[in-house]
Amino acid sequence: MRNDVNRRMVLAARPHGMVKDSDFRMEEAPIPVPAEGEVLIRNLYLSFDPTQRGWMEDRPSYLPPVQIGEPMRAGAVGQVIESKNPNFKPGEIVQGTFGWVDYLTTSGGGIMPLTKVPAGVPLTAPVSIFGITGLTAYFGMLDLGKPAAGEVVLVSGAAGATGSVAGQLAKLMGATVIGTAGGPDKTRWLRETAGFDHALDYREGNLTQRIKEIAPKGINVFFDNVGGEVLEAGLANLALRARVVLCGGISSYNATEPPPGPRNYMQIVIMRARVEGFIVLDYAPRFPEAVAALGKWIGEGKLITAEDVQEGLENAPATLRRLFEGRNLGKQILKIAETPLPRI
Ligand SMILES: NC(=O)c1ccc[n+]([C@@H]2O[C@H](COP(=O)([O-])OP(=O)(O)OC[C@H]3O[C@@H](n4cnc5c(N)ncnc54)[C@H](OP(=O)(O)O)[C@@H]3O)[C@@H](O)[C@H]2O)c1
Repeated sequence: MRNDVNRRMVLAARPHGMVKDSDFRMEEAPIPVPAEGEVLIRNLYLSFDPTQRGWMEDRPSYLPPVQIGEPMRAGAVGQVIESKNPNFKPGEIVQGTFGWVDYLTTSGGGIMPLTKVPAGVPLTAPVSIFGITGLTAYFGMLDLGKPAAGEVVLVSGAAGATGSVAGQLAKLMGATVIGTAGGPDKTRWLRETAGFDHALDYREGNLTQRIKEIAPKGINVFFDNVGGEVLEAGLANLALRARVVLCGGISSYNATEPPPGPRNYMQIVIMRARVEGFIVLDYAPRFPEAVAALGKWIGEGKLITAEDVQEGLENAPATLRRLFEGRNLGKQILKIAETPLPRI
């Protein structure tokens, strides 16, 4: 790769169904020059998030769509190469919404404002445990789910970035935790490494009955990342006054037709359950609290993290697809470059 060129992976077409390589186009441009008040950043690691599939659609959502011809939006970690902003120095590691590009200039605003990563924090942590997915697990499970000791918690998408942390947090609160994931390797990892009490491979079918056998008195908290039939299996097993935390519905993100609603939604009425959706960005003022708590639990050895790191900006579309093909264990990340300057 030439190091005087800025590669930008832009959105070339609105996807139909599963995201394809041809939905993107790699462009080359000169490395941008920072204006007064701006910094030049070299991207190091990109975050991959199922919600990026929604940003590719031209429809109203919690963020505006990425426009055709714009670099794909993404959370990232980078290094300051040049600074015309008194708040940042060359060599500092920063995080923000930098997109699928090698280099960018910014004055610091954006969806996730430009933030310094303290020395000593591993370079990938700001896009994994201290990034959107770790924070989502923290607020979704602890603020909305509020599991208590002795309760039973069900987490779907449990071997992914958000689910694996959400389930461990419920364990820390003293709950019995059941996770669902695709395939025997992931279910074994959940039980043997992540400390879940039970793990079920949803691909084996009959999920409703298998949850019932583990939790005959029902589940008190259901943290759902998947939607569809997995959501129905969880609703079928609610305990009285259960809390259902709607984090996401990845099973329908590439669907060409709107998904059917849960056929058994009357379970919510019958079990007097509370169902609540949330968007983690609303918790931005409390992110430091979550980072401090997650960091403390990691330091004490009470919380483990898993990361799947692919390499090369040219592999960004394929890396995004890995989320929908279930190839990732833990947080999906793409490495773009080594630190060009010594870290300060
Ligand atoms: N509300 C918020 O603010 C917020 C913030 C971040 C993330 N989220 C949501 O949280 C969920 C997890 O996101 P993440 O970033 O942590 O991704 P992730 O769980 O690390 O990766 C996605 C996983 O979803 C599973 N999956 C894919 N297609 C599926 C299908 N058809 N049926 C069942 N499972 C399927 C795959 O695991 P298997 O191999 O187990 O199938 C895959 O590994 C997503 O729904 C996302 O939109 C919400």
